[in-house]
Amino acid sequence: MKCLTLNAIKSPLQLEERPDLMPGPGEVVVQVKAAALNRRDFWITLGMYPGIELPCILGSDASGIVKSCGAGVDQSWTDREIIFDPGLDWGDNPNVQHPRFNIMGLPRDGTFATEVIVPASQLSARPEHLDWIESAALPLAGVTAYRAVFTQGSLQSGETVLVTGVGGGVATFALQFAVAAGANVWVTSSSSAKIDRAVELGAQGGFDYRDEGWWKQMAKDVGAPNLIIDSAGGSGYGALLNLADTGGRIVNYGTTTGAPEKLDLFKLFWKQLHLIGSTMGSPADFRAMLKLVNEHKLRPVVDAVFPLKDGNTAVSRMASSPQFGKYVLTNE
Ligand SMILES: NC(=O)c1ccc[n+]([C@@H]2O[C@H](COP(=O)([O-])OP(=O)(O)OC[C@H]3O[C@@H](n4cnc5c(N)ncnc54)[C@H](OP(=O)(O)O)[C@@H]3O)[C@@H](O)[C@H]2O)c1
Repeated sequence: MKCLTLNAIKSPLQLEERPDLMPGPGEVVVQVKAAALNRRDFWITLGMYPGIELPCILGSDASGIVKSCGAGVDQSWTDREIIFDPGLDWGDNPNVQHPRFNIMGLPRDGTFATEVIVPASQLSARPEHLDWIESAALPLAGVTAYRAVFTQGSLQSGETVLVTGVGGGVATFALQFAVAAGANVWVTSSSSAKIDRAVELGAQGGFDYRDEGWWKQMAKDVGAPNLIIDSAGGSGYGALLNLADTGGRIVNYGTTTGAPEKLDLFKLFWKQLHLIGSTMGSPADFRAMLKLVNEHKLRPVVDAVFPLKDGNTAVSRMASSPQFGKYVLTNE
């Protein structure tokens, strides 16, 4: 098999040859057709992620074909076209993951390869309306967006939602899911072209988060959102507290721009706001996300596709986030 291995922090991934994989008990070997990048992969290459063990094959997401099944696995999985839930060992509590929770692509070897070993319990049939590339783009970002919007964000049809930084891989799913659920969705972005793309996907419109006072403009033109889905945090976080409706919810699944400089607790208690955290998703969230995608025939937004050998180009592009949606590596 071929794989892209991270051997040292802040150094390029190395294309390597390794012996073909053999599944252990309860596992399958997947022939990888396509693998998607997540910002997690970028953070790991920079050493900005807990529990890094090297060498490691990065990559949490893939689409592919089950090549072989280990002991105890239903052999009918063999030759089936699949994706898989990249969140391992979530545990029994739907409200929070078990301390054993871990993610494909560190510490377990991941999907930037021609083969990957996956626990059979994680497998799902690949959505029939998607191609290999789109299927690979779905799992991690899709389940993260699903949990943030519905399980944690409790979105109701007819509510007004703001999705910040809509160019992000998770954010494009949050936009599509909220539109499918009948919400009035608004977005922010650093790019008017990305706002235009978001409108094509069903957003009502958007604002440039770099403009000071963008939130005042939104409050004037649109009103206060009931739900805000954010992964940026940082110095712009105060604007979200200012903007949110009284009794509103702000769900965070990331801190791309770091911690907020200050948190206005007066706004928090006076407006009776709910600040809610969200991380990836439970097995039930993953199943519900797939159901939503299949029922509404939603298509992941893929910005660019690279051959596996050019994976470093995709990883380094994440430094400046020019993308709208996902980067995908292909073995085709
Ligand atoms: N908790 C979890 O389970 C989980 C899961 C997945 C991701 N995450 C985290 O969530 C974040 C996003 O992940 P991703 O994979 O979607 O990343 P991504 O595809 O790399 O997207 C990053 C986006 O962040 C936006 N952004 C940058 N600065 C911003 C600002 N000041 N205000 C608003 N938006 C800003 C940009 O949007 P524009 O291009 O539109 O300007 C950019 O496209 C990362 O921090 C990641 O680590 C957490």
